[in-house]
Amino acid sequence: MSAPTLEVYTAPEQLTAALREDAARGLTASSKWLPPKWFYDARGSELFERITRLPEYYPTRLERALLERHAPEIAAATSPRTLVELGSGSSEKTRLLLRAFVAEGSLRRYVPQDVSETALRAAARRIAAEFPALDVHGVVGDFTDSLHHLPRGGRRMIAFLGGTLGNLVPDERREFLSEIADVTRPGEYLLLGVALVTDPAVLVRAYDDAAGVTAQFDLNVLSVLNKQLGADFDLDRFRHVAVWDPVHEWIEMRLEATTEMMVRVADLGITVPFAAGEQIRTEISAKFRLDGIRAELDAAGFGDMQSWTDEEDRFAVVCARRH
Ligand code: SAH
Ligand code: TRP
Repeated sequence: MSAPTLEVYTAPEQLTAALREDAARGLTASSKWLPPKWFYDARGSELFERITRLPEYYPTRLERALLERHAPEIAAATSPRTLVELGSGSSEKTRLLLRAFVAEGSLRRYVPQDVSETALRAAARRIAAEFPALDVHGVVGDFTDSLHHLPRGGRRMIAFLGGTLGNLVPDERREFLSEIADVTRPGEYLLLGVALVTDPAVLVRAYDDAAGVTAQFDLNVLSVLNKQLGADFDLDRFRHVAVWDPVHEWIEMRLEATTEMMVRVADLGITVPFAAGEQIRTEISAKFRLDGIRAELDAAGFGDMQSWTDEEDRFAVVCARRH
């Protein structure tokens, strides 16, 4: 087995600087918010893995079944030499693609990219052991600002699974897709896993499970602020809220202050007041329609979209080609 290589494009100091900036902006805004990438320290990545196994959280299971069923067909239609995966996390479902691509014969390299260094290291090691013929090169980086750094050449497919595209707000999403178009050449592929609009009750349960794992995950962002920025958030005085927004067709995750309080963020030199019931928006998870995603891909420069969905149309794997 050849050892995986790991490139740290976004160093810990840079991450801390970005976290400071995000926290300073988000916590002083009139409607408070925090960007979702800060959920994923080692504990956050672990909690997310637990979410993927919850009975209520269907996206992972549906996506896995779709990849199991259709990976050979995707491999035959696209024959990539390099698979780049953004927000790869544990790379668990990706193994289904890797297996089919290796069997098809053209895949040489796998490049997982994630902000979570711990998750990435463990995944790269596991994949390298399971696929000795592949060159595995992990990149620690932020997919919203370091795409230009990804290795070029060699007929690539860029995969972005798990519905993570839906965690970008529409402006970010447009920018993200056009960045991908900027760093790919005609004929290269983009493979997305996206959750589709479905029954709101099913959606809300997926983001607010009975065992409270999602609540712990959401609250973890406050622990990250406590650890990284010397904040003194009392996690017992916030509760997790998930609501379906039927206008934007997204789930919105929020942390609600259960009492009035002042929170000190020592490293920013600020004190943040909370009213009882005041909320911090921590994440959106947009749900898609196939026509909508086709139009967005087309506008960004990707066409010939093919899609595969489960019987209840709750999740889709889509593949499009750079014009
Ligand atoms: N692809 C995996 C994980 C999805 S969870 C799956 O389908 O199960 C989202 C992943 O994206 C996490 O691993 C998280 O660490 C990563 N992530 C979130 N924001 C990111 C960002 N801005 N840049 C890079 N990775 C990010
Ligand atoms: N990409 C996942 C999703 O949108 C991330 C996620 C799952 C998530 N459950 C969550 C994010 C709960 C925040 C809170 O489905």
